[in-house]
Amino acid sequence: MAGKVTFTMIKPDAVESNNIGAILQKINEAGFRILAMKYTKLNSESAGQFYAVHKERPFYGDLVKYMSSGPIVAAILEKDNAVADFRDLIGATDPAKAAPGTIRALFAKSIEANAVHGSDSDENALIEGSFFFSQLERF
Ligand code: CMP
Repeated sequence: MAGKVTFTMIKPDAVESNNIGAILQKINEAGFRILAMKYTKLNSESAGQFYAVHKERPFYGDLVKYMSSGPIVAAILEKDNAVADFRDLIGATDPAKAAPGTIRALFAKSIEANAVHGSDSDENALIEGSFFFSQLERF
């Protein structure tokens, strides 16, 4: 499975703006197959756990508040070179720095409300995917 899957969330700002469909279309057009998908909502405890790696960062509190502010879509995506190709597709964390045509350039509102999350390594793709989905081994 290494190298073939990544994990994404469509974040509360993009869900609120009715951009789920447009973002999934970009993901499919870029050659990713959706292996698992869930429309759900994090509470502050689960958002804090998901982003625990950032807990010393100054933006952590606001990030947890934002990520638990509304529904999200969590998904596991498959493609060769999935992690790197997906990060290319979504663009830089800060939408002001994201390349034109990337998902964040098109749909993000700010560095915090940046429309989507994408795993930064194969290892984290597994950890983050397992946070939302069980029986990942069948993928
Ligand atoms: P994400 O890729 O999901 O990983 C961490 C998140 O923290 C990031 O997207 C943003 O939503 C949020 N964030 C808020 N402020 C910053 C910042 N200054 N630098 C990086 N990430 C930030």
